[in-house]
Amino acid sequence: MKNTDKFLILGRMSAMLAHEIRNPLAGISAVTQVLEGKIDTNDPRKKYVSLIMKEIDRVNKIVHDLLDYTRDSRPYFVRVETASLVDKTLAFHVEDLEEKNIQVDRQYKSEGLLVQVDQEMIERVFSNIIENAIEALDENGRLTITAAVDEDGDGSGNTVRIGFSDTGRGSEIEDLSEMFSPFYTTKTKGTGLGLAVSSKVVEEHNGTLEVAANPDKGLTFTVSLPVDQPDEGSNPQNRQQGMKDV
Ligand SMILES: Nc1ncnc2c1ncn2[C@@H]1O[C@H](COP(=O)(O)OP(=O)(O)OP(=O)(O)O)[C@@H](O)[C@H]1O
Ligand SMILES: [Mg+2]
Repeated sequence: MKNTDKFLILGRMSAMLAHEIRNPLAGISAVTQVLEGKIDTNDPRKKYVSLIMKEIDRVNKIVHDLLDYTRDSRPYFVRVETASLVDKTLAFHVEDLEEKNIQVDRQYKSEGLLVQVDQEMIERVFSNIIENAIEALDENGRLTITAAVDEDGDGSGNTVRIGFSDTGRGSEIEDLSEMFSPFYTTKTKGTGLGLAVSSKVVEEHNGTLEVAANPDKGLTFTVSLPVDQPDEGSNPQNRQQGMKDV
């Protein structure tokens, strides 16, 4: 059997498996939430319930990553404001950021700038990058998020660059792009799919995902996306699917 065929079969199998896991997991999650509501805040058992919730989130992430990586999914584009999309994702991670006392520095110069994205998919891309940064950072580290129109490229201002820069441990590998290979991980609990999925999703948005080492410490991940030009009409990919503004 050719390697490509093997990957195709493996892809289909994991997609099927992920799909099957998703429903019972949603059930477990719902019941656990009910349970959480019934336990008193001071009850020591509360922390076991939070632990269950955390582990459910983890399995959920793996399932979603697998589905995103293997399925031939078409993004459903909506028009959104860049910075608010980043902030919305950031809000999901407040607890983990606070727990490690990570300082978040937001430097947005993209006021009112619109992008056309599949909101859920791009939120997962930002989430994967933020999660990695949190994991790479020690206590009191710093995460700097920038958003700006690209002025250096062809100068046309058609690209918005969203940068996530951490002061974490960085990486020892020479070719940093290896991080985007599926199943590349240095974590005991990692699947190594986070960045592989993220770069696939960004490419489906006609954008790029790049990584570079910071001059002093840590890494910077940059998501580049085409700026939406409202006057030029909707993205052709949306015509079959319909597009809504949010
Ligand atoms: N901000 C970062 N700083 C240092 N290393 C990083 C950073 N982000 C990613 N990496 C490296 O790239 C690897 C791949 O990241 P990726 O998100 O794809 O998988 P993962 O985090 O290991 O697992 P998961 O599938 O749970 O996301 C990581 O294991 C880590 O070695
Ligand atoms: Mg990751």
